[in-house]
Amino acid sequence: MKVQLLDEIPMSDVEASKQTDDGRIVDEEQFWRLVQGRRSIRRYRPEPIPASILEKLLTAAAWAPSAHNRQPWRFCIATEQSTKERLSGQMRIRWRRDLMADGADAAFVERRIAISHARLTSAAALVVACATMEDMDVYPDPARTQAEWTMTVQSTALACQNLLLAAHQYGLGACWMCAPLFVPELVQDVLQLPESWQPQALITLGYPAEGYAAHEIIKERAPLAHVVCWR
Ligand SMILES: Cc1cc2nc3c(=O)[nH]c(=O)nc-3n(C[C@H](O)[C@H](O)[C@H](O)COP(=O)(O)O)c2cc1C
Repeated sequence: MKVQLLDEIPMSDVEASKQTDDGRIVDEEQFWRLVQGRRSIRRYRPEPIPASILEKLLTAAAWAPSAHNRQPWRFCIATEQSTKERLSGQMRIRWRRDLMADGADAAFVERRIAISHARLTSAAALVVACATMEDMDVYPDPARTQAEWTMTVQSTALACQNLLLAAHQYGLGACWMCAPLFVPELVQDVLQLPESWQPQALITLGYPAEGYAAHEIIKERAPLAHVVCWR
């Protein structure tokens, strides 16, 4: 795999990383608006997303940090309606089967499945984020093999977070969905993905439906005291 060296990065990218005198990269208020204003958006308007915007989102994803800088993320973008329908349709069958096997109420199952299907098929684009061990280190023992896999998944999640923030920056709604984790072979099969691409998440993307402005959706976060310890 070719890893981009600093000499090969266009000067404009380096310029973009210059700090202000007091160490900030962007205006503080803008930074917090981007980070705190991002919300999971689950309803979309029908208009398509220009390819140039999708490329910006994917570029942001590709600039995430990764273990050994191996960039073990892979992305499949589905914008064709028939592909979205096929993927959602196949996942729907499996989900229904699993929920029914759990003993869930049939009406409840149909309702949940219908909501999920509508969400997937009304999104302008679906991004299936995959992790691959192709370029990661290989170890003879299970402990280090597991650690390497964990790093692969962590790196992929960071790429997804960059993508979610970029989506917010460009006025798109996005939502991470974990469904592919439960049916990885099905997703690989429907999208004809290489065997080494292991589906981790599905990110729905689209321009937010009316009344779905991200900054208006209130979501609390636990106080820092609950999640941090100082020593
Ligand atoms: C690993 C992960 C899995 C998630 N899975 C789903 C999912 O399957 N369906 C869904 O609607 N949202 C899913 N979400 C979105 C979360 O519900 C959402 O991020 C959380 O409620 C906080 O809301 P916010 O993103 O608007 O701040 C997932 C998020 C993460 C990080």
